[in-house]
Amino acid sequence: QTDEAETETFSVPSYACQRRTTLENHNTVLTDALSLLAENAELSEEEGRGVAFRRAAAVLKCLPKVVMDMTQLRGLPCLGEHSLSVIKDVLENGASSEVEATKNSERYKALKILTGIFGVGAKTADRWFRDGIQTLHQLRDSGQTLNRAQQAGLDHYDDINQSVTKAEADIISEIVEKAVVAVLPGAQITLTGGFRRGKLTGHDVDFLITHPEEGREEGLMSKVVSWLETQGFLLYQKTTRNSYLEAKDGPARPASNMDRFERCLSIFRLSKEKKRGAELTETLTENLKTPPSCSSSHVQQGGDREEGGKPWRAVRVDLVVSPISQFGFALLGWTGSKLFERELRRWAGREKSMSLSSHALFHNKQSRYLRATTEEEIFSYLGLEYVKPSERNA
Ligand code: GTP
Ligand code: MN
Ligand code: MN
Repeated sequence: QTDEAETETFSVPSYACQRRTTLENHNTVLTDALSLLAENAELSEEEGRGVAFRRAAAVLKCLPKVVMDMTQLRGLPCLGEHSLSVIKDVLENGASSEVEATKNSERYKALKILTGIFGVGAKTADRWFRDGIQTLHQLRDSGQTLNRAQQAGLDHYDDINQSVTKAEADIISEIVEKAVVAVLPGAQITLTGGFRRGKLTGHDVDFLITHPEEGREEGLMSKVVSWLETQGFLLYQKTTRNSYLEAKDGPARPASNMDRFERCLSIFRLSKEKKRGAELTETLTENLKTPPSCSSSHVQQGGDREEGGKPWRAVRVDLVVSPISQFGFALLGWTGSKLFERELRRWAGREKSMSLSSHALFHNKQSRYLRATTEEEIFSYLGLEYVKPSERNA
């Protein structure tokens, strides 16, 4: 038994948006275990269970020390019976039997491979799994019809499943900046997502684009995409109107100009040439020289891989255009983490009777929108202390 006097307990507020969560995680063994169970629940479309495990992991992520003993967890929020038993198993036995069993299950392994294809979600992967498809080869041989996104995802599988580095994100920033300024001088880009939170790697690179004069951003996305396409930077792109709000945020009636809020999911062709200064020019020449190919070691039988590999790699990039009037909300909404965002919206709804989206903040009782131009103002409306991006890594 641990001596009570030596056992340190922690005090943690319930909502992740009330906490500061940096990338310094003292309990990765525990949070990895819980995150894997969360991921498995999400792959099984058990959203509630997924969120419960994510919330439990997030509480452990913000603790200032390594957890050694179950008694240290007394009084902590969001730790349900199931999460606690997993933590206990890890603390006592070095690993959780449930996590190990999940990790080694045919289903988890297959769904992980299949959802690794850009454009394939849990539903599709599960349908394929039930049809006996567990590998990319089996998928290719099955004759399943793939949509354009999934075909691109399969073509660039290896590249897309390799993390994007900050250095690569910076090169892509330069390219996007150049595109945006070329088609609309004065337009501005901001790096969002995990890289804005200070992460050193990511699964994609996210950008928010706006113009300081309201309305000038109209039609911007298609021009940016055309520019990028002409220069040979895009392997795939699909631009859509953002319908996220209507689907998820119920009463937060989109502002009248929400139909201008566009999003482009893309796959960039990034030259591996890295000479600073001249890189953009070189990338351009390089891109026009070598036509995009569809080779991937997973997809093709091999034999066509150039020695030393191809001179470019595929990188997932998300672009969002926001009118300046919604910029603060868009920035807050696209910076993440996903759990931090979810918790902000839950806090707004449950504690403040407000509806928060990436477009607006609506005061339910006063039936009005609360105007804000900065993230700080939004936190203030919500009665929360400001949490800077690097502390939103819940
Ligand atoms: P990595 O890319 O894995 O490094 O992590 P990330 O935090 O950047 O995740 P991701 O690129 O998936 O998402 C970035 C942010 O955009 C997160 O806060 C998401 O909640 C948000 N996001 C993703 N999709 C949508 C969407 O369709 N609508 C809105 N409003 N936000 C979204
Ligand atoms: Mn991202
Ligand atoms: Mn993204």
